[in-house]
Amino acid sequence: MRTVRLPREKSRTGPLVLVNRQHPLHPGGPVDLTAVDSRHPDILLDRRAAQLLAACVRKAGGGAEIVPVSGWRSQAEQQRIWDDTLAESGADFTQKYVALPGCSEHQTGLAIDLGKAADEIDFIRPDFPYDGICGAFRRTAAAYGFIERYQRGKEALTGIAPEPWHFRYVGTPHALLMEANGLCLEEYGDFLRQGPRTCALPGGQRARVFCVPCTGEETEIRLPDSCCQISGDNAGGFIVTVWEQLPLPG
Ligand code: DAL
Ligand code: ZN
Repeated sequence: MRTVRLPREKSRTGPLVLVNRQHPLHPGGPVDLTAVDSRHPDILLDRRAAQLLAACVRKAGGGAEIVPVSGWRSQAEQQRIWDDTLAESGADFTQKYVALPGCSEHQTGLAIDLGKAADEIDFIRPDFPYDGICGAFRRTAAAYGFIERYQRGKEALTGIAPEPWHFRYVGTPHALLMEANGLCLEEYGDFLRQGPRTCALPGGQRARVFCVPCTGEETEIRLPDSCCQISGDNAGGFIVTVWEQLPLPG
């Protein structure tokens, strides 16, 4: 076992941060951005998320049919989208489909809007159907760490209307746990606060997931020596993921 000490500001960054109207983005968090693919050099995403998105699109057979529409956005870009949508479509529509500047998970580099290839793709509400190649992507997404972030029935929790085109990278164990338990990211923190969870992973591994509240300027966490990830949840704590090899059968 080893002990790590985490400063409070670390609880506001990482791949599992919750970003919404009640939990604004913490400015200055580390963002390692890269182009989502060579055909779309101006659409940027967190490096790990971009790699896994490309792998997931390939697995779904969607290289030609799945088009990235919007990835990382700066504060200025989110503000411009908000202002333009407000002017063109009014307040009700804007609040349903555009996060308040400073409260958009696009600003983390972990969110991507995808569209089905077409001559014209709507920037705010791209078509990304549930069938065909897009459906195949959707069914594969959790195994690559992505969740459909704004699902029908969760509007009261997310504050956003259903957005079948908006995917958020959280990491495979978390995406699988959320999918299996029908949870949105707003619910996931409470789910983990009830106790540690485990998740079987492809390839014979298992992940153990638990959360640790932020206890002051520095929080001490005891970790096993195996591979671990610690992410802030941007809601007053940390989410720890520990990868374990499953014992061989027999
Ligand atoms: N469309 C999502 C909610 C955003 O603007 O971040
Ligand atoms: Zn989006």
